[in-house]
Amino acid sequence: MRNCLFAAASLSLAALVSATTNATSELPYFFPPNATSPQKYEISVDSLIIDETLQKVKLFRPSRSLDGVPDWEDGPPPSLINDFASYWSKDYDWFAVQDQINKNFSHYATTVPGSRNYMHPIPLHFVHEPSTSPNAIPLLLLHGWPSTFLEWQHVIHPLAHPDNSSDQSFHVVAVDLPGYGFSPAPISTHLGPREMGDAFDALMKQLGYTKYGVQSTDLGWWVGMWMVQDHTDSLIGHSTDFWLQAPNATVLEKYAANQTTPEENEYIVGIGEFENYHAGYMAIHNTKPLQLSIAMSDSPVGFLAWMLQLITIVSDGYEYTKEELITRALTLYIPGAYSNIRSYKEVFYPSNSIYGLPRTTVPTAVTEWGNPDNPFPLLKNAQKAPLTWLQEAANITFFRQHDHCAHFPADTCPDEWVVDVREFFSQHV
Ligand SMILES: *[C@@H]1O[C@H](CO)[C@@H](O)[C@H](O)[C@H]1NC(C)=O
Ligand SMILES: *[C@@H]1O[C@H](CO)[C@@H](O)[C@H](O)[C@H]1NC(C)=O
Ligand SMILES: *[C@@H]1O[C@H](CO)[C@@H](O)[C@H](O)[C@H]1NC(C)=O
Ligand SMILES: *[C@@H]1O[C@H](CO)[C@@H](O)[C@H](O)[C@H]1NC(C)=O
Ligand SMILES: *[C@@H]1O[C@H](CO)[C@@H](O)[C@H](O)[C@H]1NC(C)=O
Ligand SMILES: *[C@@H]1O[C@H](CO)[C@@H](O)[C@H](O)[C@H]1NC(C)=O
Ligand SMILES: *[C@@H]1O[C@H](CO)[C@@H](O)[C@H](O)[C@H]1NC(C)=O
Repeated sequence: MRNCLFAAASLSLAALVSATTNATSELPYFFPPNATSPQKYEISVDSLIIDETLQKVKLFRPSRSLDGVPDWEDGPPPSLINDFASYWSKDYDWFAVQDQINKNFSHYATTVPGSRNYMHPIPLHFVHEPSTSPNAIPLLLLHGWPSTFLEWQHVIHPLAHPDNSSDQSFHVVAVDLPGYGFSPAPISTHLGPREMGDAFDALMKQLGYTKYGVQSTDLGWWVGMWMVQDHTDSLIGHSTDFWLQAPNATVLEKYAANQTTPEENEYIVGIGEFENYHAGYMAIHNTKPLQLSIAMSDSPVGFLAWMLQLITIVSDGYEYTKEELITRALTLYIPGAYSNIRSYKEVFYPSNSIYGLPRTTVPTAVTEWGNPDNPFPLLKNAQKAPLTWLQEAANITFFRQHDHCAHFPADTCPDEWVVDVREFFSQHV
């Protein structure tokens, strides 16, 4: 009897394991077309992965909280994560969200050649929203982690079709970085920020845009900084709302001797807090991305919690809806967490470093956004790199600081963000 039961149990276990193995393999569950030139594309995720994800969400194992630990100190509050798991399992509907994403934006897919250290073809998904204005500037939008092209969802239409027709308009191209959203993941190492830059330049040329602007943020900033080097003649300008520069040994010596400026001091303290207390996720992403991703790809709620800690401390108290955040997690979970988490390792390879590269002539806009309403006060200045440091690295022709809106200003303050982008590029029509 025992043996019999045991046999039955292992049979059903085998069936479960086999089903699970298929669903968690890193197949692209969104059917990218095999296109060699831009072709219309509709996002249509296989219900297999959505159903399996939902089962995992329903089986989410809550963590308990500990008396004496303030919210966000050790990680996201367990009760909040339980709420997410409950909302996700009962109320969240991927297919309704997918319909909106398809209706709201014009999606395309293509393939561009690999380059340098990554010679495989690179399939890409992107949104293309051309303007009807004769003075429009082609503009490539580069997101970071944990984002997809959806980071630009509130600005794509205003950039392409401003209410006031005398405002600068853009032919908007909002890509998904490979391994994010609906751009399939790299199949081997070294699709780094330089190779991505070559790929996006090839994409812009496929679209007929020989001269264009780049707007970057977060990991996309590294890509933009390489494009400034490698595609100088194609770039009308590089605009970024992000600049991360750890103080070097010389600066730290000056700081110790009280010879740095008040502005430098604030940044050094802010960035120090970020690196010492909040950047653990980054250290793991760029050292052992697979070790982490195996667990993340197996727990959709755990992956959301991993992202949510970071999003919360860098978004100035902005209240994302549960639906927005689950969509955000899911669009990075569907391709498999390793697909996108690993891009940190590429960005942080010493040979891909952008620090110390020669300054080019490309006009560069930097907007810096404060973060006063996050749970950790010192982080309010962690995005305020001193202007003199920027000027050593780039031809800064536009610089503006904002007190609020933090790390995702295109999400949290889209109107203010659009004003800066228009103003900078209108100087370069
Ligand atoms: C699972 O994978 C096996 C082997 O690759 C294949 O034969 C089977 O059809 C797959 N099952 C599903 C549900 O995709
Ligand atoms: C994609 O198309 C190219 C030619 O256009 C062909 O060589 C290749 O085998 C196709 N790949 C797949 C996976 O169908
Ligand atoms: C799509 O557009 C509608 C109407 O503007 C908006 O309510 C919704 O949030 C948008 N959804 C996405 C995913 O962009
Ligand atoms: C549109 O922009 C122009 C130039 O900045 C300005 O003079 C005009 O008042 C604006 N029109 C409206 C309706 O805001
Ligand atoms: C550092 O310099 C400032 C301004 O020159 C001065 O007010 C402050 O007392 C100095 N601090 C130390 C520890 O020397
Ligand atoms: C910076 O860009 C501006 C605008 O294109 C250009 O006029 C200037 O020569 C550039 N400066 C340097 C130092 O490259
Ligand atoms: C250190 O950084 C400062 C500020 O960007 C820069 O002026 C200086 O040249 C750098 N020193 C070294 C040795 O890289």
